[in-house]
Amino acid sequence: MKVTIDNITIDVEPGTTILNAARKIGGDVAPPAMCYYSKLKDSGGKCRTCLVEVTKGSEKDPRPMPKLVASCRTTIMDGMEVRNFTSPKVLEARKAVVEFLLINHPLDCPVCDQAGECHLQDLSYEHGSEKTRYEFPRRTFEKEDLGPYIQLHMTRCILCYRCVFAANQLTGKREHGVLERGDHAEISTLLGKSLDNEFIGNVIDVCPVGALTDKTFRFKNRVWFTKPVDAHRDCPTCSGKVRLWMRGEEVFRVTARKDEWGEVEEWICNDCRFHKKESKDWVIEGPAHIARTSVISQGHYSGNVGTTQQTVLIDKVVGRKPKYMLDIHSISDVNRKNVDLSKIEGPAHSDDFNVK
Ligand code: SF4
Ligand code: FES
Repeated sequence: MKVTIDNITIDVEPGTTILNAARKIGGDVAPPAMCYYSKLKDSGGKCRTCLVEVTKGSEKDPRPMPKLVASCRTTIMDGMEVRNFTSPKVLEARKAVVEFLLINHPLDCPVCDQAGECHLQDLSYEHGSEKTRYEFPRRTFEKEDLGPYIQLHMTRCILCYRCVFAANQLTGKREHGVLERGDHAEISTLLGKSLDNEFIGNVIDVCPVGALTDKTFRFKNRVWFTKPVDAHRDCPTCSGKVRLWMRGEEVFRVTARKDEWGEVEEWICNDCRFHKKESKDWVIEGPAHIARTSVISQGHYSGNVGTTQQTVLIDKVVGRKPKYMLDIHSISDVNRKNVDLSKIEGPAHSDDFNVK
């Protein structure tokens, strides 16, 4: 079938959604998506960030659709014409959706672990307004531990349901869900049941905001100070193909690899994610591809990591190991010499720095 999106015409399989057709074209033509996740069945239709304008329904029935439609849930018709970033109506509506999503979302970015890789942060940067018209107190929740590795900050949750689908579909049984309705709705494990399935760590990766955080990485480092490298290991449970977030030789965080839409390429197990935090646990493949526009790309240079070239660079040119090119301990009193943040079990805390 033929579909024209923002004046670009492509052929797609029948049954393709407008969002997936737009992703085939790529760039600004692809609408943002906060709840749709191609790897999760039934996802989408919750957040309304992917609204588009259908200016021609199809070749047979060229009437435009009366309202903006959610592109992740609308399949294309032959001859359909769609406008995304070329439609002032869409841009106006997206602004309203972002304002709505931010009504209860705290301005946590300076302390949130997701800052720098948060889809809501990007969305508000591009489409948000600098003021809020909301005058009422924001809803707040206590932080909740979901098992030993994951902490839920419900205050930041946008109720996209991705984590619910991921937990249900990866584990094959209902793990957690959304309780209550409307303004009272919240993610929770019924009866405080902890999520201890061996693939449950993936809910952290699918969460578009900082509502689900990795307790082994919390408050250890800002993501743009770490360097993402692709690595693998021989894992009996999952593919073992991961992304390591390193600083010098220290592994601060392990995540799944993500594609250009921010979606996990292959699910990884808890053992790889939470327990393999030494570079010797991994075979390093090379620097992960990071979009040039991302804040994470600062100081992240593609090249050969852990290969002869780097050894030559270290031995002949620099003469020091990468870890010591900038030894944070020597220039900051806060980071004591005997405190290696990546080695601390669980989130970093002020008590960790009180050691003599
Ligand atoms: S915790 Fe994250 S993934 Fe789960 S519903 Fe909330 S925003 Fe979505
Ligand atoms: S991505 Fe389409 S409604 Fe959320």
